[in-house]
Amino acid sequence: MASETRVAISSASDIVTARQKGRALAMEIGFVGSDLTLVATAISEVARNIVDHAKRGEIILIALNHGARHGIVITARDDGPGIPDIARAMEYGYSTRKGLGVGLPGAKWLMDEFDISSRVGQGTTVTMKKWL
Ligand SMILES: Nc1ncnc2c1ncn2[C@@H]1O[C@H](COP(=O)(O)OP(=O)(O)OP(=O)(O)O)[C@@H](O)[C@H]1O
Ligand SMILES: [Mg+2]
Repeated sequence: MASETRVAISSASDIVTARQKGRALAMEIGFVGSDLTLVATAISEVARNIVDHAKRGEIILIALNHGARHGIVITARDDGPGIPDIARAMEYGYSTRKGLGVGLPGAKWLMDEFDISSRVGQGTTVTMKKWL
């Protein structure tokens, strides 16, 4: 069964809330130590992208329970401008606003599964999973 937590994102303090709720859920699921920080950091990056590039959106946190397999799935979605070239956006150092351009590739690296879909003028959805 999936218990779901939604955090509306439109400000820096919302990013902190999403990070804290994600960390708390990861702890409930059974993550320990540095994995808690990895999950929280990946959440921060996709939440920050919402604020930086789309202004507002939401983070959805779900505990996964596939038989004996436990994990967390994090979805970041917005109705912002979208990403015209996802392959470029996933490159280290690519940024359209003089950022470091490490948010998306960093989040992908931290998580076990990473998927991004986006339509220009419609929005962006990032789905990431980490297994226990
Ligand atoms: N939710 C989003 N909506 C629209 N564009 C996005 C979104 N997330 C990322 N992008 C685009 O992808 C690019 C790369 O994102 P990434 O997080 O890697 O770097 P950044 O946000 O520019 O800088 P950094 O995260 O290092 O501060 C962004 O510059 C932006 O053009
Ligand atoms: Mg970013």
